[in-house]
Amino acid sequence: MSVVVQTIRPGFVAEIDGIDISRPIDPADLDALWQASDEHAILVFHRQHLTDAQQIAFTENFGRPERYVFSYSKQVKLRLQRPEMADVSNLDAETGQPQTGNARHRMVNLGNRLWHTDSSFRLPRGGFSLLHAHAVPPAGPRGGGETEFADTCAAYEALTPERQAMLEGLQAEHSLMYSRALLGFTDFKPEERAALPPVVQPLVNTHPPTGRKSVYVASHASHITGMDIADGRLMLMELIELATRAGTTHRHTWRVGDLVMWDNRRSLHRGLPFDERFPRDMRRVTTSDGTEPMRVRRAA
Ligand code: OGA
Ligand code: MN
Repeated sequence: MSVVVQTIRPGFVAEIDGIDISRPIDPADLDALWQASDEHAILVFHRQHLTDAQQIAFTENFGRPERYVFSYSKQVKLRLQRPEMADVSNLDAETGQPQTGNARHRMVNLGNRLWHTDSSFRLPRGGFSLLHAHAVPPAGPRGGGETEFADTCAAYEALTPERQAMLEGLQAEHSLMYSRALLGFTDFKPEERAALPPVVQPLVNTHPPTGRKSVYVASHASHITGMDIADGRLMLMELIELATRAGTTHRHTWRVGDLVMWDNRRSLHRGLPFDERFPRDMRRVTTSDGTEPMRVRRAA
């Protein structure tokens, strides 16, 4: 086994070294990665240079990747050809140049600036996300396109037992269209809306390996089922505020070749602004929660 795990924030963030994830992972290393992922919501790998196929293959160790081709308009030309790849870049598929203004791909991706967890608006919801940096903009006055993470287990554990009991059994409705509408973007075709109808998710999660509970919230969540819209929305805002308060977040400053893997069931994240004149080429693969690894199976 060659994997080296260095804890950055106990129970939340670790850095992984000593492994080349472009190649098939040996079972002992994979077991060490699973253990690191059980213990931390976020794993950071440096100096990895992956093709899209290699990124997908590595992700398949942790579950079945979601597929995106039918999510958005089929007429739109895609920059990345594999349906498992989410193009989180600011690049135009036709020109390869940074997009500006209200270009559709830019508008949809701008929603990533809001605190969220990936694919809470799907069933099954998002499990692990693996985001890989191919091009990183220089730091500018508005930021350098860092990604911030928040610990939603810590948020749950900060609640009083009475408040925790109040959340038990509650469910929230999540929709991609809701988070995009928060930024004024509502230009979805009827078939796009039909492909991603709102879904209901529990507000409290249990992480089976550790038994820790977390609040499952996101800017995709519009209200709490069975509660007045305003009361439910205020509760969701309060929980996101609690989870993301200063001191309990981690900011990742990207270098080309970084891959960050996070567990969407116990963290929130958001992208920070950057100088959009420069390319920021980020590519993500996300597993569907609860799906079996497609490659080497986890050791018993
Ligand atoms: C994502 C995402 C944020 C970023 O890929 O899911 O939210 O910093 N990315 O690009
Ligand atoms: Mn995201």
